[in-house]
Amino acid sequence: MSLQPCRPAPALILAHETPAHATQIEALLTRAFGPGRFSKVSERVREFADFAPELSFCALEAGQVVGVVRMWRVSVGDQPIVFLGPLAVEETERKHGLGAQLVEHACAAAQAAGEAAVALVGDVAFFARVGFAIAPDVSMPGPVDPKRVLARTFADVPLTGAVRAA
Ligand SMILES: CC(C)(COP(=O)(O)OP(=O)(O)OC[C@H]1O[C@@H](n2cnc3c(N)ncnc32)[C@H](O)[C@@H]1OP(=O)(O)O)[C@@H](O)C(=O)NCCC(=O)NCCS
Repeated sequence: MSLQPCRPAPALILAHETPAHATQIEALLTRAFGPGRFSKVSERVREFADFAPELSFCALEAGQVVGVVRMWRVSVGDQPIVFLGPLAVEETERKHGLGAQLVEHACAAAQAAGEAAVALVGDVAFFARVGFAIAPDVSMPGPVDPKRVLARTFADVPLTGAVRAA
């Protein structure tokens, strides 16, 4: 049996998104979430939240966007926090840890920036792996299963109240 030379896999880079990535990110989000994407309660949050590009990242492989995580500034009650989402990884790249890596990277950036907490709407089975737990006292601007409202705190702050504009 002869061994075939193979090309080294292109390195994965986590970088802040730029306007040049916008088209690829939109296409990835449409593939990942399908047509129901804009009916999610998280979209209602993003309508009033302030995008935080310095806390948001995309994963690039050979210049192609293969993952994205976006972060937004909001408040819960009077507490300023960060809202995470959308998070998506290209289907061919899943189950290699990239989703968790993107969340960790964005959370580390938020913590380094002095943010007290990150909240999101998602599956606890996935996000518990990266430090999130159900946030029972946080309410969303629309109907949602309360078991999907999650938070990860970096400080001992009360997370009680509605998610609203920062
Ligand atoms: C969720 C997502 C970002 C994970 O990306 P990823 O790169 O595969 O993540 P990781 O490799 O870090 O983790 C994969 C593990 O999470 C599990 N997982 C993925 N989505 C999950 C979910 N919704 N609920 C529970 N577990 C989930 C996978 O089965 C896998 O489990 P395993 O390690 O036991 O095989 C990716 O599946 C995706 O883009 N999904 C579509 C968009 C989406 O649902 N985004 C999250 C919205 S809140």
